Amino acid sequence: MVLIAGLAVDAMRAEDIPEVQAIEREVFLTPWPKNAYQRELLQNRAARYLVLRQADVIRGYGGLWQVGEEAHVTTIGVRRQDQGQGLGRALFAALLCQAYELGARWVTLEVRASNDAAIHLYERFRFKIIGRRRGYYTDDGEDALVMWSDNLHAPGFKENFSALLTGLDVAGVGSPPPAEYPVR
Ligand SMILES: CC(C)(COP(=O)(O)OP(=O)(O)OC[C@H]1O[C@@H](n2cnc3c(N)ncnc32)[C@H](O)[C@@H]1OP(=O)(O)O)[C@@H](O)C(=O)NCCC(=O)NCCS
Repeated sequence: MVLIAGLAVDAMRAEDIPEVQAIEREVFLTPWPKNAYQRELLQNRAARYLVLRQADVIRGYGGLWQVGEEAHVTTIGVRRQDQGQGLGRALFAALLCQAYELGARWVTLEVRASNDAAIHLYERFRFKIIGRRRGYYTDDGEDALVMWSDNLHAPGFKENFSALLTGLDVAGVGSPPPAEYPVR
């Protein structure tokens, strides 16, 4: 159970970008280029970006793209001092709720092969490693692991996700998955 009072997930706005970039510089080896978030928020209709706030301070953020029936998680980060308290779990759950809302059937992402914390987080949501991209990260040549969810509507995946969602006391994370595939 994530029990930090006053946490809320919200859509990222243009005025959040400097705070998000400050977290990004803290937790990523190579932050996105300066105007990348601006472009994502203003021009990419297939993108959804979220922030996790507490007492007006952004503690973490994440985003995804819809690509046909898939959702690609593009980024997720939690302030270093706030890590290990379940905030990443809350954010990732919120991203998956967005994926359900968008009608995605699968979610995929890339993660550094050495990133145990992130891999563990995704495995909690029943994501599986299905491949490796050698030398994917150009800054240091590290391999990326490619992870996929099961079909988002597979009973086992849904049950696990709903159970994780029930354990979150964070406003705005989203609703449990729909019973049926959304009609589009
Ligand atoms: C990955 C990240 C978002 C996770 O956020 P977090 O708030 O620390 O994660 P949580 O506290 O919700 O923990 C999630 C799970 O990971 C586990 N975990 C946390 N740190 C860990 C570590 N160093 N090694 C292994 N597992 C770890 C937790 O125990 C928890 O597992 P549980 O649910 O079984 O108890 C955060 O570490 C981060 O911002 N890292 C830097 C940016 C990054 O690497 N992003 C991912 C890019 S793919």
